[in-house]
Amino acid sequence: MRRRHLLLVSSLLAAAACATQNPASAPPESANDVDAGAGVESPHPVITLNAEPQRAGDPAKGYRALVNEAYVPCGIPWSAYSQVFGEAPENQRVPGREGRNATLAYNYTAMTTKEGVELVTSNCLTCHAGRIDGELVVGLGAADGDFTRSAEDQKGLTANVGLFLTDEKEKAEWQKWRARVDTVAPYSVLSTRGPNPADNFTAVLFAHHDPKTLAWSDTPLMAVPPPHDTPVDVPPWWRMNKKTSMFYVGGGRGDHARIMMTASILCTSSVEESKAIDAYFADIRAYIASIEPPKYPWPIDQARASLGRTVFESTCSRCHGTYGSAATYPNRLVTLAEIGTDPVLASGTAQFGPPFVRWFGESFFGEISRLEPKEGYVAPPLDGVWATAPYLHNGSVPTIEALLDSSKRPAYWTRSFDSKAYDQAALGWTHRALARGKSGEANVAAKRAIYDTTLLGYGNGGHLFGDALSADDRAAVIEYLKTL
Ligand code: HEC
Ligand code: HEC
Repeated sequence: MRRRHLLLVSSLLAAAACATQNPASAPPESANDVDAGAGVESPHPVITLNAEPQRAGDPAKGYRALVNEAYVPCGIPWSAYSQVFGEAPENQRVPGREGRNATLAYNYTAMTTKEGVELVTSNCLTCHAGRIDGELVVGLGAADGDFTRSAEDQKGLTANVGLFLTDEKEKAEWQKWRARVDTVAPYSVLSTRGPNPADNFTAVLFAHHDPKTLAWSDTPLMAVPPPHDTPVDVPPWWRMNKKTSMFYVGGGRGDHARIMMTASILCTSSVEESKAIDAYFADIRAYIASIEPPKYPWPIDQARASLGRTVFESTCSRCHGTYGSAATYPNRLVTLAEIGTDPVLASGTAQFGPPFVRWFGESFFGEISRLEPKEGYVAPPLDGVWATAPYLHNGSVPTIEALLDSSKRPAYWTRSFDSKAYDQAALGWTHRALARGKSGEANVAAKRAIYDTTLLGYGNGGHLFGDALSADDRAAVIEYLKTL
């Protein structure tokens, strides 16, 4: 029981922040966004998110920092952790880790505070590493996350860590971590297993920091709207090789490294501390931009794939680009009116209100980067897309086959969370369509595993570009996508 408690607690360590957007109150268009006017075949505007300079970094140093530095610098005292956990099994480890990190699971990082307290902290890989066919892939979004526990349960777990501690300095570190995690707990609850709540709790973390000094305040310094169930499917990191903006709504502009490190404000309390972390984040960004997607590991029908390429280039490339030796990628932001997918994330939930965008602009993070959310979604590069199921920004469509034929999208479905349960024909996780949604299910665990597309923010509509294809052409496009 103790072990289970700490496991759950440590998944709370993941409470790191990534994004906040507010399209409803989008600031003036960036000078870099070219409105190229109406496309020839479409009445919709073409919005291009142009590249902006990034600080140069060293990818090898960046990987070392990613897996060794404690950039989310608060957590569970080692003395408590080590009473429950032994060394991580081999399949939970990643290469290149130094000292104590070498025997920790990939999503934990060891550190020693200035006061000499040894801690186990969280890192980016809690959300940004996932498994395919049993193999851990750094940079693949964790599509099997489980954020369905209630805030009360989460708070009970952070309290439990105290049972293991006697040293006063350790207790102080635990109290600090507990205050932070308990603050975000109500904002890190989702109704459904799979999606991620990072967008939900970022605004709360902003609200608890003074933008100028980054000092933490136990009470919010600005109004925080009630928690909102906003599901987001964690995107794969390798897209940043081509993308000029961060986040589904294209809201992360300017210096990407400075935006990525906002995840550290779960724990940080000063500009000085943030500057020290920022010093190596240009390297981490360079590493992220260097990641190659995994290759499709099963057989591909090359003749059919090459037919699919032709269909893809005439139907999909204007948004998703071309692949192969002379690859192109347009960095298009597609308006809600044109894409028609679930509007909640791109039209701003209460937490993504104007005050949070303003907070960012006034803060250390706003010195060289900007949050400029838009009312639409970026058409992502489709490299390695076979591995990133489920699909769309909210993970509402289980397979590519269903994405390209909207009549096959289940309104209610439940999936296998076994990374070996991959469906090679449909491209995605093995799933089952259900006759009813959450409201008809009494069993709590089964209810949480139901993806119910009738819920606010969970809609599976829009992106109907595959519907007009013949069955043969659609199958050919699916085969082609395996090669990317
Ligand atoms: C609690 C989970 C979580 C943690 C921890 C986390 N992220 Fe994220 N990250 C997300 C989610 C969810 C998104 C998508 C948000 C959106 O687009 O609205 C995201 C988006 C991103 C993106 C943009 C990808 C794209 O295609 O636009 C980058 C880059 C990124 N994160 C880097 C990091 C780094 C570096 C860290 C560690 C310092 C980190 N993240 C920690 C959940 C997390
Ligand atoms: C008008 C622009 C546009 C066209 C044309 C288009 N797409 Fe998309 N596509 C998008 C946008 C925007 C998204 C993201 C939508 C969202 O997340 O809500 C997307 C998402 C996707 C995704 C899901 C990616 C993921 O990991 O969630 C796939 C796969 C995809 N498109 C394939 C295709 C294929 C294949 C075609 C051609 C048959 C096509 N698209 C045509 C704009 C377009």
